[in-house]
Amino acid sequence: MKRIWIGTNWKMTKTIEEGISYTKELKRISEMISDNIELFIIPPYTSLVTIKGVIRDSRIQLGAQNMHWEDSGAFTGEISPKMLDEIGINLIELGHSERRQYFNEKDEDLNKKVHAALKYHFRPLICIGENRKQKDQGISKEVLASQIKVCLRNVPEEQALNVMIAYEPVWAIGENGVPADAGYVREVHAFLRDTLNQLYPSVGKEIPILYGGSVNKDNFLQYIDVEHVNGLFIGRAAWDIESFEYILKSL
Ligand code: G3P
Repeated sequence: MKRIWIGTNWKMTKTIEEGISYTKELKRISEMISDNIELFIIPPYTSLVTIKGVIRDSRIQLGAQNMHWEDSGAFTGEISPKMLDEIGINLIELGHSERRQYFNEKDEDLNKKVHAALKYHFRPLICIGENRKQKDQGISKEVLASQIKVCLRNVPEEQALNVMIAYEPVWAIGENGVPADAGYVREVHAFLRDTLNQLYPSVGKEIPILYGGSVNKDNFLQYIDVEHVNGLFIGRAAWDIESFEYILKSL
């Protein structure tokens, strides 16, 4: 059976208490879902240690939403890979469009974070996506290829299998997002696969590419059926445990 990655980024939502009750429910649900699902959650920093305890002895993997690339230093407000290693995270989300947009994250810095993540054996989940203006200008593919190539600069083939890509068109994300047409997702994921195959001729075909942006319980099946979509990265529709349960049990 094809392995599929299903995960949710909590963004800046859920207090510790809310996160605990959500995760307890998810842990119960995770025992009833198909074996081929790789399930992950990405809480805010304040909840990571507590949630790590809640998911103990379960199949749920834990991620963080961002990190610095240095182990320690005078970087007020930042969290280091060494600190996250102490918690025992499995994956690290890098370059979400909200971080690129509001916190000016650049691909060159993301590349440093990717290397730091690989050093600590965290799976980097590299988020890429074109914005509305870039789509309208017809330069989506150039933008995406550049994001992938810079983020993965100097990542050798033997480490590339530990990387995941999340394609999230910026215009499809969040409350004002417009869900993408499945045909468009098919075309872009085929392009991303080609790009990965060029960069990594032997393992490019196995690097998971997730899709995200207004995925919900009414549309998730049309995305998961698309060739080269190896999973879904879900925001709002997964924050509500009942809707996430519906999605997970339908796969
Ligand atoms: O990280 C996932 C996210 O950006 C998608 O958010 O709420 O549009 O599913 P949403």
